[in-house]
Amino acid sequence: MFEKGAPIADPKGKLGVLLVGMGAVTTTFIAGVEAIRKGLAKPIGSLTQMGTIRLGKRTDGRSPLIKDFIPLADIDDLVFGTWEIFEENAYEAAMHAGVIEKELLVQLKSQLSKIKPMPAVFDQDYVKRLSGTHVKKGKTKMDLAEQLMEDIAAFKKKNRCSRMVMVWCASTEVFIKPHPVHKTLATFEKAMRENHKAIAPSMIYAYAALKSGVGFANGAPNLTVDIPAMIELAEKQNLPICGKDFKTGQTMMKTIIAPGLKARMLGLHGWYSTNILGNRDGEVLDDPGSFKTKEESKLSVLEYILQPHVYPELYTDFSHLVRINYYPPRGDNKEGWDNIDIFGWLGYPMQIKIDFLCRDSILAAPIVLDLALFMDLAQRVGMRGIQEWLSFYFKSPMCAPQLYPEHDLFIQLMKLKNTLRHLRGEELITHLGLEYYD
Ligand SMILES: NC(=O)c1ccc[n+]([C@@H]2O[C@H](COP(=O)([O-])OP(=O)(O)OC[C@H]3O[C@@H](n4cnc5c(N)ncnc54)[C@H](O)[C@@H]3O)[C@@H](O)[C@H]2O)c1
Repeated sequence: MFEKGAPIADPKGKLGVLLVGMGAVTTTFIAGVEAIRKGLAKPIGSLTQMGTIRLGKRTDGRSPLIKDFIPLADIDDLVFGTWEIFEENAYEAAMHAGVIEKELLVQLKSQLSKIKPMPAVFDQDYVKRLSGTHVKKGKTKMDLAEQLMEDIAAFKKKNRCSRMVMVWCASTEVFIKPHPVHKTLATFEKAMRENHKAIAPSMIYAYAALKSGVGFANGAPNLTVDIPAMIELAEKQNLPICGKDFKTGQTMMKTIIAPGLKARMLGLHGWYSTNILGNRDGEVLDDPGSFKTKEESKLSVLEYILQPHVYPELYTDFSHLVRINYYPPRGDNKEGWDNIDIFGWLGYPMQIKIDFLCRDSILAAPIVLDLALFMDLAQRVGMRGIQEWLSFYFKSPMCAPQLYPEHDLFIQLMKLKNTLRHLRGEELITHLGLEYYD
């Protein structure tokens, strides 16, 4: 698909980062990048900015920063465009989200106030708990997609972008099953013209992005680009797509701990996860339709990692429950509890309790940055269709139809780094290491 060590076009000029939704995640990402540019903060949690990559033998001592190893856009070259159903600018929206302290936001006010959202493509049938006024009107879903394409072209021109990527950071939509109209690009386009219910707003954005030559990453669990029609369009346009659902908080912990339990052949009776969360995302997820989309995304992780069909004595019929409770006093500062009932030698039961007092958007923001930079890289290299090497960032990673998704965080990281090594013509790392003992 792409040759080992093939030349990679330099990331010259501005990279437009188009963000759908300007809530907690988007504002924490943009304000964070502005603070980092001003030298007020460090890009903690971002693999592209802080991560290193080992090259060659362990004795070679070559471990450059990833951003020095592979040509990525510089964060000084990012420009931000957003769509949102409310008219607030990025400064007001960040204040409203309440993630970043006021003192820091005040220092970024002049940059943030300039970012004003474009009117959104929104339909309350797909996000029941919200209603907004800053919304586009159109006779058909295709009309709306065309308006988004005009927005994208105008943004590119105004900001003199040489390249663009789009990341969905808007609310979780109600659960939609794959439908026959999603099967091909032709049936999808016909359905758009006929205002079919199976075409959600997120799909209209993704369609507009891909038609405009812009790769699309999906930060929510919505179906969006995980349908054959979108995969067909991405391949036709030679563009990357990836998703779904940023892997932060509780699921990140799950995909760290579960591989460890499996590695040591410890069994599982059950895993009970519950959360309290008080931000707008929590309010949206309080609707059963949106929660169902999230629940599906969170539940699949353990089955895939633990492989009950391969280890029936250890992992058959374990209980796995996930709850999210909307609890306003907590705002964005989520608390996630996990009770894990495991068993060991001779079947003796044991328990693990986790209480993770996390900050959702603080964990998500560096993922948005990395995805924007890696999707831009993928576009420059000509990597088209599903980007499985970016599974590291997602709760429900997209993969080829004949595969099962890889959820183990450590395998995902190895895959990502080996992809980078391959792109630069370096040897892949297997960790065999017999040569050190010859
Ligand atoms: N923060 C995390 O750790 C995390 C992890 C995984 C996934 N996510 C997902 O990321 C998304 C963003 O999370 P958040 O905490 O910023 O939520 P948020 O509610 O603060 O922001 C989402 C914004 O999207 C807007 N919106 C909804 N539909 C829209 C549309 N069609 N067009 C434009 N704007 C629209 C809403 O008005 C809202 O301001 C959610 O779907 C969430 O489930 C977040």
